[in-house]
Amino acid sequence: MPAASAGVKIEGRHEIDSHDKGVHALNERRILIWDLPTRLFHWLLASLVAAAFVTGLQGGNLMVWHGRIGLLILGLLAFRLAWGVLGSTYARFAEFVRGPGAVLAYIRGRWQGSGHSPLAALSVLALLALLLFQSISGLMSNDDIAFRGPLFAVVSKSTSDWLTGLHRENIWLIGGLVALHICAVVFYTFLRKDDLILPMIHGHKRVSRAAATPATGGGWLAFLAALAVAFAAVWIADGGLLPPPPPPPPPGSIPTW
Ligand code: HEM
Repeated sequence: MPAASAGVKIEGRHEIDSHDKGVHALNERRILIWDLPTRLFHWLLASLVAAAFVTGLQGGNLMVWHGRIGLLILGLLAFRLAWGVLGSTYARFAEFVRGPGAVLAYIRGRWQGSGHSPLAALSVLALLALLLFQSISGLMSNDDIAFRGPLFAVVSKSTSDWLTGLHRENIWLIGGLVALHICAVVFYTFLRKDDLILPMIHGHKRVSRAAATPATGGGWLAFLAALAVAFAAVWIADGGLLPPPPPPPPPGSIPTW
């Protein structure tokens, strides 16, 4: 009877499926991949980049906030660069920055590991580099009306105008890369069933036992050191090393016409 045999077949498949899942579960382990500072960095960066887009495109009175947000983004990036050396296993650049050989192996499906895949690592580096350029160029930019970045005085007006142009053009590259980044994450999470989003929220991921090495390192001391680097970067970027502005002229020395 076709219906009955179909039933047996489906039942059999279910048994194999659940057996497969059981074997899979036995071969897997839940480990810490993304430490808390890396996760906080990621979601703060995403929110601040969105806020920088809104305030920059709106202009006017919001430019003051655009400048403040830019300084915060620079501080976050400085923190991440330090955390890439001092942080825990999968946050370290030495762990995820790999050569073209690893990228090719990944594309051919022959790469096994946890943390950023070799291809994701390339997009991480590109995002960090573009955002770093954006925040540094913003420090010396001007809007020809009332807004000047805190390091405007370090360059000539023509250099500032040139950097302002690059700062404006670069938002297309950043917007494109962010869109690609989100599409890639959604593709892997929902079509390839490799959830990337939840681990970036709670830090943990199920990985094969063969690749299961929980993240270690990046303790409090490392965190405080990276935070110090971030504060120093923001202080310098906000003109902390510039000579103080000249005092205002004494009252009465300005003609009253
Ligand atoms: C302005 C928006 C965003 C920016 C600038 C951004 C930037 C970044 C950066 C720099 C990293 C590397 C993290 C690190 O190693 O420190 C990263 C990773 C990641 N991001 Fe985003 N992100 C944005 C939005 C999003 C959104 C909306 C999602 C969720 C849908 C997301 C999900 C992820 C995930 C899952 C990873 C880890 C990828 C992997 O496992 O290799 N991001 N992002």
